[in-house]
Amino acid sequence: MKIRKMIKLPENNESVKIYHPAAGSNWIASYNLAACLNKPFELRINDIWNHLPSDFPVVDSNNNLVFAQENKEKDVFFSTQLPFNNLEIFETMDGKESLKILDPVDIMYIDWLDNWIERPVDSDHTFEYYAKQFTQKVKNGGYVILDLKHHNKGDGEDWNHQYNHLEGVFEINEKTHLEYIGKHRLKHNVDCKSSGMRKRYKLKIFRVIHLEELNEIV
Ligand SMILES: C[S@@+](CC[C@H](N)C(=O)[O-])C[C@H]1O[C@@H](n2cnc3c(N)ncnc32)[C@H](O)[C@@H]1O
Repeated sequence: MKIRKMIKLPENNESVKIYHPAAGSNWIASYNLAACLNKPFELRINDIWNHLPSDFPVVDSNNNLVFAQENKEKDVFFSTQLPFNNLEIFETMDGKESLKILDPVDIMYIDWLDNWIERPVDSDHTFEYYAKQFTQKVKNGGYVILDLKHHNKGDGEDWNHQYNHLEGVFEINEKTHLEYIGKHRLKHNVDCKSSGMRKRYKLKIFRVIHLEELNEIV
């Protein structure tokens, strides 16, 4: 199924807000997803040590720079290759602190479940355990995207348990449920090179349901 059938966004001209914690140099993955949605967007790229396009230039197949600085603001860039408004906002901050002050986003793009998030003290390494920490920062009807690039790469079973979850709609806490929409293999569509860049991204897609907001509507 096409990504735009799996991720249904409001049909208006508001920028889609996306957050990618502890992104490292792999922010190009969330940029690629954002580009595929074909809508204006603001991508907030968090890392304790960020990879700015001014420090690690990203070029297209003609060797042209892809990202330009917005209004000479050091940490804010836009891509000149997209036909709609977009901002790449680089935030150099501990992800735990960043999450506390984050305004709810439409899409949370997660490819690393460590460092920026509390690890379980017992053996409860399920995806639900981690999701409890960030789903409140996704709008009702928004999406969590779990990039599977580290799946099967970590040490032992605990590592892979963090990708385990129930099918269908499942509870995260008394206020919030997630609906597992399915897996998707997203092509790298944008014309830019970056170290370690993949040709395809295996993603799991979840829709966020905040029960209180649903009850308010009824
Ligand atoms: C293994 S890399 C993962 C990078 C990328 N997300 C990926 O999956 O390829 C871990 C990243 O977490 C970042 N990091 C470490 N501690 C962090 C923290 N407290 N808050 C935010 N980022 C952190 C590191 O700088 C590094 O870029």
